[in-house]
Amino acid sequence: MDDNVGTGGHVPVMLERVLELLAPALAGPAPVVVDANLGLGGHSEALLAAHPALHLIGIDRDPFAIEFSTRRLSPYADRTTLVHASSGDLAEVLDQAGRPVIDGALFDLGVSSPQLDEAERGFAYSYDAPLDMRMDTSQELTAERVVNTYSAGELARILRDYGEERFAQRVAGLIIRERAKEAITSTKRLADIVRDAIPAATRRTGGNPAKRTFQALRIEVNAELSALEAALPAALDALTLGGRVVVLSYHSLEDRLTKQALTARTKDTGPPGLPVPLPAHQPRFRLLTRGAELPSDEELARNPRAASARLRAAERIRVDD
Ligand SMILES: C[S@@+](CC[C@H](N)C(=O)[O-])C[C@H]1O[C@@H](n2cnc3c(N)ncnc32)[C@H](O)[C@@H]1O
Repeated sequence: MDDNVGTGGHVPVMLERVLELLAPALAGPAPVVVDANLGLGGHSEALLAAHPALHLIGIDRDPFAIEFSTRRLSPYADRTTLVHASSGDLAEVLDQAGRPVIDGALFDLGVSSPQLDEAERGFAYSYDAPLDMRMDTSQELTAERVVNTYSAGELARILRDYGEERFAQRVAGLIIRERAKEAITSTKRLADIVRDAIPAATRRTGGNPAKRTFQALRIEVNAELSALEAALPAALDALTLGGRVVVLSYHSLEDRLTKQALTARTKDTGPPGLPVPLPAHQPRFRLLTRGAELPSDEELARNPRAASARLRAAERIRVDD
């Protein structure tokens, strides 16, 4: 198979900037980088091509991503370790790979193009498909299970917290009423229910009303935020002096978690007013980005899916004794 055809024209998001930010950390004789969201292997391939001595550990919870990237990265097979796992288990993955210390880490969060484009995976409200949304197709929890078994309160919380849905209670209420008639098993029926639950005046603005509900369910099914909460600190802890992390997030919840994790480590933690700052209180990291960086207009014209991307990066400037 021609891999370029196989990537469906997929373009890795903010690729040049990712390469530029990681390059100084990968200049040593035997650098190691972790790609915690391997996907189609686009960023990984570019990193391997740019750094001939680089060893790359690629993680993805989607078995199809691992299968695809194993083929795509086969020219670099002797320099790659690809692991089917959640990035939430990043520390264990590094230990098992015998590489507990790393020089770089990349997080390109969220869903991949094939996950969105293959209707039967049930991520997209634009296709009618079984309500699935599992990135890891071997796990038990599906969107169908969430929608048909969670309480009204749990559903409303998920829609509010993970979808930032203003009408969370109304949507949850209608889901409960509709599922009492017949189980909700398809993306189309769920999208119709959401549309009916949203007041008509709001429906006319702001795109497809199902978008927020589908995002919320996806985050719940794949426990995306708790994976990030575990993975990012684990990657930061594993970075060597001068090591760098780059995070691409696609919604405000991911970006907020990322910002919190990075800024917590870039602050002096000493009590205010100390005459001489103590080494133990000095920041371990410095930010490489001011605020979150956005894709250029030119990239957005080429790749509309980059639209919601936010990039943050940091460098380790101190290690614990
Ligand atoms: C945006 S895509 C990555 C695309 C990739 N950078 C490329 O250039 O092809 C995100 C990938 O992260 C994976 N993913 C999401 N959450 C994950 C997690 N907690 N652990 C491992 N993989 C995860 C998804 O299955 C998906 O393949």
